[in-house]
Amino acid sequence: MIKLTQLATAVAMVVAANAAMAGEVEVLHWWTAGGEAKSAAELKKIMQSKGHTWKDFAVAGGGGDNAMTVLKSRVVAGNPPAAAQIKGPAIQEWASEGVLANLDSVAKAEKWDSLLPKVVADVMKYKGNYVAAPVNVHRVNWMWANAAVLKKAGVAGAPKTWDEFFAAAEKVKKAGLIPVAHGGQNWQDFTTFESVALGVGGAGFYNDAFVKLDKKALTSATMSKALETFRKVKSYTDAAAPGRDWNLATAMVIQEKAAFQFMGDWAKGEFTAANKVPGKDYICAAAPGTANAFTFNVDSFAMFKLKDAAAQKAQADLAAAIMGTEFQEVFNLNKGSIPVRLNMDMAKFDDCAKLSSKDFVATSKAGGLVPSIAHEMAVPPAVSGAMKDAVSQFWNNDKMSVADGVKSIAKAAATK
Ligand code: GAL
Repeated sequence: MIKLTQLATAVAMVVAANAAMAGEVEVLHWWTAGGEAKSAAELKKIMQSKGHTWKDFAVAGGGGDNAMTVLKSRVVAGNPPAAAQIKGPAIQEWASEGVLANLDSVAKAEKWDSLLPKVVADVMKYKGNYVAAPVNVHRVNWMWANAAVLKKAGVAGAPKTWDEFFAAAEKVKKAGLIPVAHGGQNWQDFTTFESVALGVGGAGFYNDAFVKLDKKALTSATMSKALETFRKVKSYTDAAAPGRDWNLATAMVIQEKAAFQFMGDWAKGEFTAANKVPGKDYICAAAPGTANAFTFNVDSFAMFKLKDAAAQKAQADLAAAIMGTEFQEVFNLNKGSIPVRLNMDMAKFDDCAKLSSKDFVATSKAGGLVPSIAHEMAVPPAVSGAMKDAVSQFWNNDKMSVADGVKSIAKAAATK
């Protein structure tokens, strides 16, 4: 029979072994708004349940520009976090610097290749090796509406075309409420602009202008029409919009102060956190003219090379957890997005998420699935950054002609 002292020694050894492999993960992200913070907290919980320590490295600022600036200085100083929220083509740029870790052993063990859409898996790989783990699929071309405000203004349901939209906006204005809740920050201007351009020109035009950066499309009459429409949207925003954070704009819709917001479905995380019910309190609808298209924004964590063995183990556990079913469900329920992992059970998700999931599959087959340029999915950061500034210059200056707006956006698109 095993003696009590032997048992105690054995237990102590197991505990020590676990402790030795318990590491710290420092995670850089910009999820500080209500729904976002709740989502990030779920990942922290999962990591803690595996015995690891979570070091939160949150840098506030929607869209992530501030976070990326801070990340650069940390990496240059030779002190990168274990993981950072890095998306799209920027993943390739970081990997080409030789600073990212190879996640192939986790990816193989967890069968990522068969669990991810190929378009997504390709973005997570550099030269065929996984260097990042995806968490979700956000749809950007949404329009959020407060049901009670629409009712008060006499608007029957979400407008489907831009003409219908402006008619609705007029009614809301007459009812003494704010038609469009907007936050005047360059990434929010760009978010609205890409939805307007998609609605005005369709997915083919969007793809030519914002993915291929085709000069003809960028200087076309369709682009002029998109800018005119964009300016008209601005005329329905309030005077306090400049500088406002996106979640405060969402709060205006939640609190029945404003009718509409153009924003990706992280806005739904705010409605959810405020216990609002889609279809009853608020409406999620594709932005006018974009029902057959889907601008995708996949959040992901790139992992940096680390020296310490326990930290490496914690990092591998983080990568595995991110793609696990438990995290994919609970995170996305809070975040407003849908799981990126294929074949997930959507039973607990609301109607907006179910519509997103259906449209993601349908547009990937029919051809309306396009990467969000405003959310760093379509072109390298230097190009999208220059275009974002050009779009905001036009938005902020009502005296700038549409022709000059077109010219300056096309010039920005040619940034090398
Ligand atoms: C996006 C990001 C989302 C959300 C949003 C606002 O770029 O993909 O997850 O956080 O910014 O912060």
